[in-house]
Parts: sequence; C-alpha cells; structure tokens
Amino acid sequence: VANKMWGGRFEGGPAKIMEEFTPSIGFDQRLAEQDLAGSRTHARMLAAQGIISKADMDAILTGLDTIAGEIKAGTFEFKRALEDIHLNIESRLAELAGPAAGRLHTARSRNDQVATDFRLWVRAACQRADEGLDALQQALFKQAEANITTIMPGFTHMQSAQPVTFAHHLLAYVEMFARDRGRFADASKRLNECPLGSAALAGTPFPIDRDYTAKGLGFVRAMRNSLDGVSARDFALEYLAAASICATHLSKLAGEIVQWCSPGFGFVKLSDQFTTGSSIMPQKRNPDAAELVRGKTGRVLGDFVALATTVKGLVLAYGTDLQEDKERVFDAADTLEISLAVMAGMFADLKAQPERMRALANAGYPTATDLADWLVQNCGKPFREAHHITGSIVKRAEELGVDLDKLPLSEMQAVEPAITEDVLKVLSVEASVAARMSYGGTAPDRVKEQIFFWREKLK
Ligand code: ARG
Repeated sequence: VANKMWGGRFEGGPAKIMEEFTPSIGFDQRLAEQDLAGSRTHARMLAAQGIISKADMDAILTGLDTIAGEIKAGTFEFKRALEDIHLNIESRLAELAGPAAGRLHTARSRNDQVATDFRLWVRAACQRADEGLDALQQALFKQAEANITTIMPGFTHMQSAQPVTFAHHLLAYVEMFARDRGRFADASKRLNECPLGSAALAGTPFPIDRDYTAKGLGFVRAMRNSLDGVSARDFALEYLAAASICATHLSKLAGEIVQWCSPGFGFVKLSDQFTTGSSIMPQKRNPDAAELVRGKTGRVLGDFVALATTVKGLVLAYGTDLQEDKERVFDAADTLEISLAVMAGMFADLKAQPERMRALANAGYPTATDLADWLVQNCGKPFREAHHITGSIVKRAEELGVDLDKLPLSEMQAVEPAITEDVLKVLSVEASVAARMSYGGTAPDRVKEQIFFWREKLK
C-alpha cells in the first residue's frame, strides 16, 4: 500500500528493499526533541498569524506533549514504514489530535523541518564539545599547576633538544584546546540562523512570520534565502571540521601518553581506572584508552570527508543525498564527546614521575645550546662559530661518556681557551630552563604567568 503521509498519487507501495534502503528513522530519531520544538513553535506561529485556529493549535500542542512523554518513557513506536522522525511524529499526532494534526504541516516541508532540527542539534553539540573541552583543560591545568618546576626533556625530531618544564608542555595543549573551543563557538554562531519557513525550497504563499519562529527557537534571525535554507549543510561541515581538528589535538596528546607510559620513558603513571591488562602477559599495564582516543581520530576525520564528498557537486535545492548528513555528525559527536571525557578522566588522576623526567632530561646534551649562547654572550663569538666550538666539546664529552655539566673545565678549554669557570653556571638543565625567560618561554617564572592567565580564564 502507498505511504499514508504522501501516497495520494500512488497506486502501489514501495519495493521491499526500499523499506530497508530509504528510511532514516533508525538514526534521525535522535532529532525528536528538536523536531518537537520546531513543531511547537511552528504551530504557535500559524495560530498567531491566523493560519490555523487557536483550538487547532491547542490540540496540536497537547498532542506533541503526549508524544514527548511517550518518547521519554520509551513507549513511542518508531515505524520504518514512516521513513523518518518527522513523519513518525506527525502520524502519531494524527492519532492523538485528529484533523488538527493535518494542519501542522501547512506552510512547511520536511526539507526546512529537517534543516531546522539539524541546526538545533548541531548547535547543542557545539555546546557539549565546549563543555568537554573545558573539563579537559581543567584537568590539564591542574597537572600543570603542580609541575611548574618539573623538568622534562623537550624534543624536536623526537631527539633530545632542550629541557622544558612539564607545566609548559601541558599548557601547550591547553592553548590548542582553547582554539578548538573558539572554532566550535564560531561554528555555533554562524549556524544560528533559522531555515524554517523556507518550505520545500521556494517559500510559501501563507502569511507566515519567520521572525517569530526564528526567535522562538533561539536563532538570531531567519535565513535570508529559502533555497539556501533547505540545502545548506556547511554548518554541519563546519562542525565536523572543528571536530576533526580537535580530534587531531586529542590524538597528539594521546600519543604522548602512550609514549610517556612506556618503560623507556616512564614519565607518567595512569591510574588503574584508565589502564587495562593483557590476557597473556601478566605484567602488562596498557594505555588502551589513550590508544583508542588516538585511533578514533580516523573516524572523525572520515566523517568530515564523507559528508564533504556527499555534498560536493549537489545542485540546489534539497536532494535526499542530504539525508546522509546526520549519521556522520552523530558519529563524530559521539566519538568526540566520549574521547574528551576519557582524556579528562585520564589526566585527572594521572601521576607525573618527576624523577624519571629529570633523569632523561639530561640525556643527549640538551644544554649544548646554552653553551653556545654563553660563548656568544661572554666571548663575543658569532653564533655560528660558537655552534661549531660547542659541537667539538659535545663530541669530546661523548668520547668520555659524561654529561656536559660533568665535563672537566680543562677539556672545554682545550677546545676553546677563552672558556672560564663561569660557564659551569649555564650547563645544568635547571639553569637552561630558568634562562628561557623570553615571552612564551619555558622558564618557571614565565610559566607562572601562563598559569595565572589560565587560572583566571578557566574559572
Ligand atoms: N529524512 C529526510 C532527511 O533526513 C527528511 C527530509 C526529507 N525530504 C524529502 N523530500 N524526502 O533529510
């Protein structure tokens, strides 16, 4: 039999396989709350404009409340034959409110309805991402606060480069996550215009009040162009782009954890809560949670690419291709939100191991730059020559198997006679870190400035 919601000009029903292929109710039931909100506002607007009667509006609103209750209680029966959330709700409303229900769809199409619902959903998702990021920043900040003077090796090319403080390292991530929050905030602001009233694509002859529905749903304004209203999905892409970039930051941080937990590093210990064992190797404590966060980045990036590919080359206005938008966004949001929560949990009870960090901070001559800088400042050497001299001294230290600050002064003087005992003050990792007082540098006094900044900001 033909679909009762749109089957007027049909004689037969869809092929069996179509019932499997076309419905979106399996996933778009997640838009129920937004769909009900959109319908309530639309019904009120129709009545305010005299397009439907007050009595019809009341019957519609009462019916929608009943449906909201049924969905909440889990008693609402979602039917595949009714395709999507919009028709499922409308069909149930017809059972509850009788003929009044049939008036709800006046001056509206599923095209502007779904665009409105989805914008509302993505707006809320931006808010949840912001909250998740805030919690993660708080957890990172607390660890940073406790590790202002904790010295660890800083790497470039994964080679020991110059010592840094653990706080400085963690605050670099706090910065990245702040930019992520900015991207979600931008996306949320830009998407906050209402497509409802665009109708199928061209607008409607009914005297609707688009400003009323826009404001009623918390949008700042009605979208200017109805064709754009029903077909634009760049708001979803923008959410996915922000989520993708955020996921790359999470994967980077997760990668650090995996490395820091390995015995070669041992920089941190994860609590039992965020560690798993091996079914064969009894000694194992695996950072699975971090690995999964890192691995799931692929999903989020994939979601962006999938939707970008779907919308690429689509002509105006609505096409059912667009039904593919929701699962990508739902998947990315679910993945991102749980990843943020897991990372925040992991950092909240992670134990830094300052002795291990300090021990490795000395390896690989990380204060060689300080020696070269000293030669520039105290012997008037051009930096390039100082670099060369220091290279020879490092080579000598390597031959003798000692760290730079343990190399006898006479050995350094054999390479460069102008070197005096004064140089010994700059060769420890503590001195190296303390000297990096330039703005944004790793010196504890500078890091304290960052701490003050974030303490205020994250309040
Ligand atoms: N289920 C559809 C979607 O997710 C709703 C809009 C359908 N409109 C239509 N003309 N088929 O996009």
